[in-house]
Amino acid sequence: MSAAVPAHDSAHHDDHAHAHPTGLTRWLFTTNHKDIGTLYLFFALAMFFLGGSMALAMRAELFQPGLQYLNPEFFNSLTTVHGLVMVFGAIMPAWVGFANWLIPMQIGAADMAFPRMNNWSFWLVVPAAILLVASFFVPGGAAASGWTLYPPLIIQQGISIDMTILAVHILGASSIMGSINIITTILNLRAPGMTLMKMPLFVWTWLITAYLLIAVMPVLAGAVTMLLTDRHFGTSFFNAAGGGDPTMFMHIFWFFGHPEVYIMILPAFGVVSAIIPAFARKPLFGYASMVYATASIALLSFIVWGHHMFTVGMPAAGNLFFMYATMLIAVPTGVKIFNWIATMWQGSMTFETPMLFSIGFLCLFTIGGFSGLVLAVVPVDITLHNTYYVVAHFHYVLVSGALFALFAGAYFWLPKFTGNMYNESLGKLHFWLSVIGFNIAFFPQHFLGLAGMPRRIPDYALQFAEWNMWSSIGAFVFGFSQLLFLYNVIECIRSNRKAADNPWEGADTLEWTHLPSPAPYHTFETAPVVK
Ligand code: CU
Repeated sequence: MSAAVPAHDSAHHDDHAHAHPTGLTRWLFTTNHKDIGTLYLFFALAMFFLGGSMALAMRAELFQPGLQYLNPEFFNSLTTVHGLVMVFGAIMPAWVGFANWLIPMQIGAADMAFPRMNNWSFWLVVPAAILLVASFFVPGGAAASGWTLYPPLIIQQGISIDMTILAVHILGASSIMGSINIITTILNLRAPGMTLMKMPLFVWTWLITAYLLIAVMPVLAGAVTMLLTDRHFGTSFFNAAGGGDPTMFMHIFWFFGHPEVYIMILPAFGVVSAIIPAFARKPLFGYASMVYATASIALLSFIVWGHHMFTVGMPAAGNLFFMYATMLIAVPTGVKIFNWIATMWQGSMTFETPMLFSIGFLCLFTIGGFSGLVLAVVPVDITLHNTYYVVAHFHYVLVSGALFALFAGAYFWLPKFTGNMYNESLGKLHFWLSVIGFNIAFFPQHFLGLAGMPRRIPDYALQFAEWNMWSSIGAFVFGFSQLLFLYNVIECIRSNRKAADNPWEGADTLEWTHLPSPAPYHTFETAPVVK
């Protein structure tokens, strides 16, 4: 891990009395945005493998019909913790890791605005994750409700729910502190001359994401607090017998939950907007429209939550409102897809691993967007809601969307993070196995859902056997190919293949117009040297 930060020439420090903290002290007490970014990224990677193991356990159970080796209650717990670990433990911390590394450098700041709070933000995440995972080992086992924690089921379960609620509170506090830090950094610490509309898009997308986080995290905290008082303090917010309404939980949860989806995907838009111009050797097409589209998506995300609840029964006017509002999101998203394609149009493209993952993102996230549009149609959703079609949809959004963009960003900035070049052939192999395994795992789930296979079940009827077998095979190909990424990252850190100032050579000439190309979209040049 220590090699993740460029080593200092110790001779330069001989005349200083102080010594940089090393080892555990360095990582526990660090206030350096790069160290904290590294902590977030490695933590997210560990959680990604943990959540992935849970997914593979479920896919092994579903390989063929009939109960193999998981008892149904434990299977349901796996669905809950897999979801929570991937959302709160893997994807969100990974984006915060990128934010820590990149935002100060991309706006020309020396560090984050509140370095010590930054340390606290990270070290809160760890006990929360421990609580989540430890909930497997208490009497009754982890929550079997799915990550949405719906009452009334959740009211009756054991102490693991209280652990999950506490974990959510801690994660929320961490996210809010992180967001305050990011917003303050971006608004106050930009280098002279860097106006808002000159910021790299990753900074823009994170600025908007941070506002989303601050808006919805307290709402989630309120929802789980009401669960807690319903469980232990005699309230009946969600208990019909006491005059409450379980549907209210769904409204509150999804008022958080839908923007949460965009919290995971907006930084992905920023990363892809950095990578595609670099490998197409053209400036990003439609910068301003990208900013406005991101903001529009964020605003719309607050008024579409009802699309998660079409099956509970709402007035027709409510259903129609949420249906049309949801469809409206396709407009700014379409603007973005158009801009990325227009950026590549007539570019002199090369296809190194970051670009491959970005193009994979573009194609597959679009499929996830389209299946979202399908599910936005009320009568269609009522038919498909509890089926594998929904599972297929959100994995196209979150795996080939958020995760692929994370990989793209990781390969793109590994040379910057480590000072070394990763193994390109291995990276490409990782991409191709991922994209093939992912599609074999999740595309058939559309068919399973359309054929009526319910989600969140450990067993299924015989007619679903074949596609489930394919899905499990794909999941294992996808899962094990992630070990290539792990190996590549570690090997890159330890290698001595020094990366060039611009590791993406060939970006210097625009053959198609014979004009000098713009600087690659990462703007590290603006970072002051801090010794
Ligand atoms: Cu939604």
